[in-house]
Amino acid sequence: MEQIKIPVVEDKEKIYAELLPQLESLVIGEPDFIANLANVAAALKQSLGFVSWVGFYLLKDNELVLGPFQGKVACTRIKIGSGVCGTAAANKETVIVPNVYEFPGHIFCDPDSKSEIVIPLIKDRTVFGVLDLDSSDYNSFNSVDAMYLQQVAAIISRIYYGG
Ligand code: SME
Repeated sequence: MEQIKIPVVEDKEKIYAELLPQLESLVIGEPDFIANLANVAAALKQSLGFVSWVGFYLLKDNELVLGPFQGKVACTRIKIGSGVCGTAAANKETVIVPNVYEFPGHIFCDPDSKSEIVIPLIKDRTVFGVLDLDSSDYNSFNSVDAMYLQQVAAIISRIYYGG
């Protein structure tokens, strides 16, 4: 398989800094939440070449249920506290996993995934979902990704109307 080069910190900063205003303008004026999530997932996948899977899980009846995503077929339901997604949701904290084989309870959806980052989506101190990104390389995500992806999560939170 062709190795995808993970951008250095400066390049990542540039990619995210250009992407954030684009995401803002993508969702402004469109009231449909799912349509907006679909476009945000597509924009993230297009811009972040080192990402193999990106998408949303939304909290329904105390379970995370697969939402709009880009990438291979994925698990549809994740329990709160399970896997990386369930852990991020339970603790209301971003989780960076440099090596998925070393994360106890990691849920293998995509056999190509080697590292992962999950950002909780929070409105009024309540978690309503997560943003999940996978990479087929180890150590793909760091604090730069966390900082910018938390801003993406903040945009999503602003347009979330509940339900
Ligand atoms: N690896 C995740 C499951 C979701 S997929 O990566 C798309 C987890 O452990 O929660």
